[in-house]
Amino acid sequence: MKKIIFLLLLPLLVAVSCKTTKTSTTLVDQYKYDVQKKIVCENGAVVSAHPLASKVGVAILKMGGNAVDAAIATQLALAVVYPNAGNLGGGGFMVARLNDARLPDGQGKLVAIDYREKAPGKAHRDMYLSPTGEPQLELSQNGHLSSGVPGTVSGLFESAKYGKLSFDKLIQPAIDLAEKGFAISERDARAYNGLKDDFLKYCTQTPAFVNENLWKGGDILIQKDLSETLKRIKKNGAKGFYEGETARLIVEEMKRGKGIITLEDLKNYKATSREPHVFDYKGYKIVGMPMPSSGGLLVHQMMKMIEDKPISSYGFHSPEAVQLMVEAERRAYADRAQFMGDADFYKVPVSKLTSEKYLKERMADFIPGKASNSEQVKPGEIPAVESEETTHLSVIDKDGNAVAVTTTLNNSYGSKTVVGGAGFLLNDEMDDFSVKPGVPNMYGAIGGEANAIMPGKRMLSSMTPTIVLKDGLPYLVVGTPGGTTIPTSVFQTIINIIEFNMSTEDAVWKPKFHHQWLPDSVYLEKGFSNETKSTLINMGYKTRERSGIGRTEVIKVLPNKKFEAVADNRGDDSAEGW
Ligand code: DON
Repeated sequence: MKKIIFLLLLPLLVAVSCKTTKTSTTLVDQYKYDVQKKIVCENGAVVSAHPLASKVGVAILKMGGNAVDAAIATQLALAVVYPNAGNLGGGGFMVARLNDARLPDGQGKLVAIDYREKAPGKAHRDMYLSPTGEPQLELSQNGHLSSGVPGTVSGLFESAKYGKLSFDKLIQPAIDLAEKGFAISERDARAYNGLKDDFLKYCTQTPAFVNENLWKGGDILIQKDLSETLKRIKKNGAKGFYEGETARLIVEEMKRGKGIITLEDLKNYKATSREPHVFDYKGYKIVGMPMPSSGGLLVHQMMKMIEDKPISSYGFHSPEAVQLMVEAERRAYADRAQFMGDADFYKVPVSKLTSEKYLKERMADFIPGKASNSEQVKPGEIPAVESEETTHLSVIDKDGNAVAVTTTLNNSYGSKTVVGGAGFLLNDEMDDFSVKPGVPNMYGAIGGEANAIMPGKRMLSSMTPTIVLKDGLPYLVVGTPGGTTIPTSVFQTIINIIEFNMSTEDAVWKPKFHHQWLPDSVYLEKGFSNETKSTLINMGYKTRERSGIGRTEVIKVLPNKKFEAVADNRGDDSAEGW
C-alpha cells in the first residue's frame, strides 16, 4: 500500500514552487505528468530523458538524499521507463564534484566512476570476422554475441559509496514502476511496434515489450520479470545481479543464443573509480571522464585547439566559428581513431595529445576560409606511443554536489536481446571495439590496435559526462547521448554558454553540427542559415543534413545560486527540481 501511495504522490512531491517552462505536454503516465523543458529551482534539480525518472530523482532529493542518491535512483527508474537506453544490462560513466567539508572552501572532491562493459573472457580480436576476414557487423550489433559484460549494477553500488540514503530506498521506485506499470508514450508505442520483429528475432523468450495487438500511447507497460530482478538486487546488492538467480538467467540466455558471457565473467566484473580528466579553459575547470571514454580527452583537445582564437567575436553559427570548430573536431577525431582505447590495456599518450605544443602544431595547417582534408589531416605524430542510444542525466543538490551520468546499451534497445526470465535488455557494446582496423562501427568510427578486442578489455566510448567548475564550484552539469557526436555536442554546448553567452536553452536547443574526421563531411542539423551553409560549401566542405544531434541535459548555476535546469527539446526529456 505504501508503495502505491508513493507512486501516486510522486507528481505532488515534485510539484513545487519552481519556475517552469513547458513546451510540450505528454500523457505518458497514468498519473498524468508534464514534460518540463526548463525550470529554475533553489534546492536541487534533475534532468533526464524521461519525466518519471526525473521525478523519482527529485523525490529522493526531497527525502534527504544527495545528488549521487538522486542520480542512482534516476538511473534505476530509467532502466524501467526508458528501456531504449536506461539499463541494468549496459554500462556507463559517472563524473561528480562532491562537497567535502574537509577541503578548503570552494574545493570539492572530483570523482569518476567507470562502469563500462567489458569484453567477455572468451572474446578475441577476430571474433566478428568471417573465415575469409570479412567483418560480420550483424554479430557485433545485434543479438547475444554483441553484448559486453554489463557494468551498470556494479557502477551503481560503487557510486552509492558517495550517497546518503540506503540502496533500498533508491531502488524502490524502480521496483514499483516495473511491478505496477506505467503508461507508455506515443513515441514508446511506435518504437515497440516497430521493433516487434527484432525482439522476436533476437530474444529467445517473448519479452514484455512485445504486444500481440499493437501498442498505443497510454497503454500500461508492466515488467514483472524486471521487477523480480530489481528485488533480487535490493535483497542481495550487486550479488543479486552478478551471482545467483540473475547471473544464472543471463548465462542460460547466452547458451540459448550462442552468446559467450559466463558466470565467471559476471562474478569478476567490478566498476572502477578513476581519476577524472581535468583541464582549464579561460579560468573554468572542465571535469570529464578519462579512458575508456574518449569524451574527456576529445573535449580537452577541441577546446584547447580554439582557445587562442577570438571565437566569440565571430558569432554563434557564423561560418568562421563553425569552420574553426569543425577543424578542431576533425583533428581530435583523427587522434581518437589512432590513439584511444582502454588505458588498462593500451598506453594512451594522454599528456602528449593534450600538450600545448602538440595542439598548436595540430592547428598549424588550419586555413581560415578553406576546408582541410581528412586525407591530409592524419592522426598526429606521436613519437613511439609512450611505452546513436544512450542517455544522460544531470543532477545537482543544494549542498554543492553535482553529478553527470551517461549510460547506455549502445544503440536503441542494445542487442535487442532481453534476458529470459530476468526482463532486462543486454547491450550491444562490443560494436564499440574496432572489429577490424579501418572498418567503421555503427557510428562510422574507425580504430585499430588501441581499441582492438581483448578479453576483459573495455571498448572505447564517446560518452562525455562533464562538469564545469567556476571558482571551484559547480557551474555547468552537461552531457548527452549520440554516439560519436557526444563529445562535439558537449564541446559546442559549453562554447555556446562560455563564449557566445547564450541562454542555456538556446545553447541546448539550437542546431548542432558534427565532424569526426572520417567520413570527411560536416553533419548539420536542420536550421542553419542558408548563408552559413553556402559559405561552408564554398570553403570546400561537404555538408550533409541529418536528424537531431544528441539530447543534451544541462544544469547551470545562476549568479544568484539558483539552478537552471534545461532538458533537450529533441525528445520527451524533462527537468524537475525543487
Ligand atoms: O559509448 C559509446 O560511445 C556509444 N556506445 C554510445 C552510443 C550512443 O550514444 C547512442 N545514442 N544515441
